[in-house]
Amino acid sequence: MKVLTVLLAIVIAVAFVSSVMAVPAGKTVEFAGGAQGKVTFDGKTHADKGLKCNDCHPKVFQMKKGTIKITKEDHGTDKGCGSCHNGTKSFSQKDEANCAKCHKK
Ligand code: HEC
Ligand code: HEC
Ligand code: HEC
Repeated sequence: MKVLTVLLAIVIAVAFVSSVMAVPAGKTVEFAGGAQGKVTFDGKTHADKGLKCNDCHPKVFQMKKGTIKITKEDHGTDKGCGSCHNGTKSFSQKDEANCAKCHKK
C-alpha cells in the first residue's frame, strides 16, 4: 500500500511538473531549419488557438526537445507540423507563400 501511495505521488508530481514546463505555457522550441532559415514553434500561439496537449502529444511529438526530425520531404505529408499545417486545419507547409510564416532568415 505504502509503495503504491508513493508511486501515485510521483506520478502526480511528474504530471504537474510537465504541465508547468508545457511548451504552450509561453515556451518556444527552436529548429535550425537549414538553408530555409530557423523555425520557432511558439507554444502560446498554439494554445491560444485552443489546442490541447494531446492534440500533439504523444502522437505527433514526444514531450522532449529534439526528438522529431523534419526534412523538406516531410512537408506536405502528415508528419509533425504537417499533421495540421496541411491547408485544412491550418496554413499549408507546401505553399511557397507560407514558407516565411515558419522559417525566418
Ligand atoms: C501544436 C502542438 C503542441 C501542443 C498543443 C503541445 N505541444 Fe508540447 N511540444 C510540441 C513540440 C513541437 C515539441 C518539441 C518536440 C521535439 O523537438 O521533438 C514539444 C515539446 C514539449 C516538451 C519538451 C520540452 C523540452 O524542453 O524538452 C514538453 C514538456 C511539452 N511539449 C509539454 C506539453 C504540454 C504539457 C502541453 C499541453 C499543455 C503541450 N506540450 C502541448 C508541440 C506541442
Ligand atoms: C495540432 C495542430 C498543429 C500542429 C501539430 C502544429 N500547428 Fe502550427 N498552428 C496550428 C493552428 C491551428 C494555427 C493557427 C493559425 C491558423 O489558424 O491557420 C497555427 C499557427 C502556427 C504559426 C503562426 C503563428 C502566428 O504567429 O500566427 C506558426 C509559425 C506555426 N503554427 C508553426 C508550427 C510549427 C513549426 C509546427 C511544428 C513544429 C506546428 N506549427 C505544428 C496548428 C498546429
Ligand atoms: C508549419 C511550419 C513550416 C512551414 C510552413 C514550412 N516549413 Fe520548412 N521546416 C519546418 C520545420 C519545423 C523544419 C525542421 C527544421 C529542423 O529540424 O532544423 C523545416 C525544415 C525545412 C528545411 C530543412 C530540412 C531539409 O530537408 O534540409 C527546408 C529546406 C525547408 N523546411 C523548406 C521549406 C520551404 C521551401 C517551405 C515553403 C514551401 C517550408 N519549408 C515551409 C517548418 C515549416
